[in-house]
Amino acid sequence: MKRKHFFAIFLCFLMVFAFTACEASAGNISETDSTSQKAEAVSDIAEKGTTQQVEDKDKKQQANTSVNDDTEEPSGGSNILVVYFSRTGEQYGVGVIDKGNTAIVADMIIETTGADSFEILPQDDYYPYTYDELTEVAKKEQNENARPAYAGDIPDLSQYETIFIGAPVWWGDWPMICYTFFENNADSLAGKTLIPFSTHAGSGLSGFDSKLSSALPNSTVGEGLAISGSDAQNDQDSVRVTVNDWLSGLGF
Ligand SMILES: Cc1cc2nc3c(=O)[nH]c(=O)nc-3n(C[C@H](O)[C@H](O)[C@H](O)COP(=O)(O)O)c2cc1C
Repeated sequence: MKRKHFFAIFLCFLMVFAFTACEASAGNISETDSTSQKAEAVSDIAEKGTTQQVEDKDKKQQANTSVNDDTEEPSGGSNILVVYFSRTGEQYGVGVIDKGNTAIVADMIIETTGADSFEILPQDDYYPYTYDELTEVAKKEQNENARPAYAGDIPDLSQYETIFIGAPVWWGDWPMICYTFFENNADSLAGKTLIPFSTHAGSGLSGFDSKLSSALPNSTVGEGLAISGSDAQNDQDSVRVTVNDWLSGLGF
């Protein structure tokens, strides 16, 4: 009995130590545009991520389209749309989160511009909640140039002139599910202004703008914004200032 007690306490200490070590190393990724450095940084994250399990795997798919209630216009009245992809669960440098870093930035844009929004959610949410496992699945999708399906119906895009599109940087690129969105809606997005934004752990915008232009050559791509994921989670006052300065520079 006593030995069991001791073993349980020892295990607790071990888990706390492992997570603290991961968090400490998380702050060490520096801004870089080098793909190899990015790859190293991400594999470092993957190696040092914890194996903390999140039991909330049955999280239900929620309605992913929302029309901003602040506008006087009827449903679909805004000419600005924010499309975003974002994950909850265990994330790099911020522990387990119940609101994704990119979702936080998306909400700031929605709040300031009065935009409607569409969240890209995977059709069958097979993405793991644990960080290590998620990096593996994402790497496989990238290697296979996969086009994972998303859930829900895209709103009628014809009413929107400007579409903000945001996502976390995954392995130095847009998550592959975003390419599914780009390709499925290329015709409807033609002629519109697309403004990319990322959250990241050191890789910045990671060419989201040029990659968006290549994927959608008939759209105009505006100046993008990159926000550190841990700032989005932990320093929202200053992120809001950065987001609003950027929006104001774009004329919003
Ligand atoms: C699969 C995966 C790959 C990642 N790759 C990178 C990367 O290449 N560069 C980087 O700076 N951060 C990388 N990150 C960190 C995320 O971009 C960062 O934590 C982001 O803010 C998460 O946003 P979210 O909470 O909206 O999903 C990666 C995270 C995951 C899960």
